[in-house]
Amino acid sequence: MSEKVLVLDFGGQYNQLIARRVREQNVYAEIKPYNKITCDDIKNADYKGIIFTGGPNSVYDEKSPHYDPEILNLGIPVLGICYGAQLLAFMAEGKVSSADDRSEYGNAVLYANDSPLFQGVPQKSDCFMSHTDYVSEVPKGFTVTATTKNCPAAAFENKQKGLFGVQFHPEVTHTEYGKTILRNFLYNVCKCSGNWKMDDFIEKTVEKYKNELNGKKVLLALSGGVDSSVAAALLYKAIGDNLICVFVDHGLLRKDEGDFVENTFKGKFGMNLIRVNAEDRFLQKLSGVTEPEQKRKIIGEEFIRVFEEEGKKLGKIDVLAQGTIYPDIIESGKGDSAVIKSHHNVGGLPDVISFDSIAEPLADLFKDEVREVGLKLGLPYELVFRQPFPGPGLAVRVMGEITKEKLKLLKEADAIFREEIDNNPIKKETNQYFAVLTDTFSVGVKGDARAYGYVLALRSVTTDDFMTAEWTRIPYDVLERTSNRITGEIKEITRVVYDITSKPPATVEWE
Ligand code: XMP
Repeated sequence: MSEKVLVLDFGGQYNQLIARRVREQNVYAEIKPYNKITCDDIKNADYKGIIFTGGPNSVYDEKSPHYDPEILNLGIPVLGICYGAQLLAFMAEGKVSSADDRSEYGNAVLYANDSPLFQGVPQKSDCFMSHTDYVSEVPKGFTVTATTKNCPAAAFENKQKGLFGVQFHPEVTHTEYGKTILRNFLYNVCKCSGNWKMDDFIEKTVEKYKNELNGKKVLLALSGGVDSSVAAALLYKAIGDNLICVFVDHGLLRKDEGDFVENTFKGKFGMNLIRVNAEDRFLQKLSGVTEPEQKRKIIGEEFIRVFEEEGKKLGKIDVLAQGTIYPDIIESGKGDSAVIKSHHNVGGLPDVISFDSIAEPLADLFKDEVREVGLKLGLPYELVFRQPFPGPGLAVRVMGEITKEKLKLLKEADAIFREEIDNNPIKKETNQYFAVLTDTFSVGVKGDARAYGYVLALRSVTTDDFMTAEWTRIPYDVLERTSNRITGEIKEITRVVYDITSKPPATVEWE
């Protein structure tokens, strides 16, 4: 049984990151919202340690999250971070104050004293702060173990009781020794041995689903994206042919991608995969449509219709499996932000397929962990590290009306661009790169004759989270070779341009 640490979530913005940093140290971290787990549950769950996360609030605000102070008497070590540290001080009857002139946001110099948390941390180092309230008086029995210019108790502790608070954020990379501090908490204080490995996750998950899904018919919509592919491989290991994967090929995938998905899952793994070749059907629905949101809507709806029809052919389905990963759950809980583009994935499926329950084997994992699982399960590298691809596929990269011919041109040009990037060190600096077929025509010369053909745009972005992105500084020689090859090999394209717009103001995709 793996050791585990509880990340008690008070609503801060770095909560996922905390869990991920803990897991990086080979300790399993479980995130639970503070109002979904009682002190008794914690007592009975065998946690090696508890981390209180940050939160956007002030402890004196009645509406802000509080917790049963009994948690400090369970004998389980606690590390409070930011709001979590203030809450810890408040629960132990210290004093928290608020003063605008003491707000800190950004880097600060941390002066650290002797503490189990600061082993291997120099007396002076950088840390990242983001707060207005601060602990002005530590509770009885606690000592201050670090300060910054504006924060008299940047870290404090009651070593006997195993209670620690840090006002700064050890989980972000701006805190120079953040990793060491978290590791110290896990290993020096909580006495973890670090026995969490991805292999354990795979073994445990396979075992769980072997039991839970025994004899049940499970359906999964496979898109060929990382998440649904890894979910499929994992469930296949658990239940074999009882897993039925339906892969709707809408014809809007990149060159040869449909065959690659089929060859991988049906060929290599021998999975029960149904590939539905629905290109004509989608193109028919999209005929004459030029407005981007309408394209997205049509594709989303048609996808669901095709899936529904396939589902009906399969008879009674017991379980619908989905490749939901942890950030999806967090994002969907975050309320409504303005709809810039209607993203569609498999969101509408639960409404049209009837089933008894849902299985989401990756719901606790982050993207990089999902990739690790994928590789361990033997999925090909190019699939596991596949760049993001929009659900509506190439439809949002063919400007104007989508035709078979335009799609074919785009697929060829896009394959050339990707090949050139893949063979160049710049690949490490780009997170997404693709071609866009514009609806504009331009005059050129091919051979000795006048040519009149499409303008093709190349797009490449560098980003952490795709919410904002910079255009990638692709070396001129790569651009030159790509342009020469595209205009040389595809006669219908006469001009190639490179998109130098960041997000914002542009989005990553053109439509
Ligand atoms: P935008 O164009 O919104 O893209 O800046 C941000 C990221 O999201 C991808 N994208 C989509 N992904 N369904 C998806 O699953 C969609 O409908 C969709 N539209 C955009 C885009 O490729 C980029 O990675």
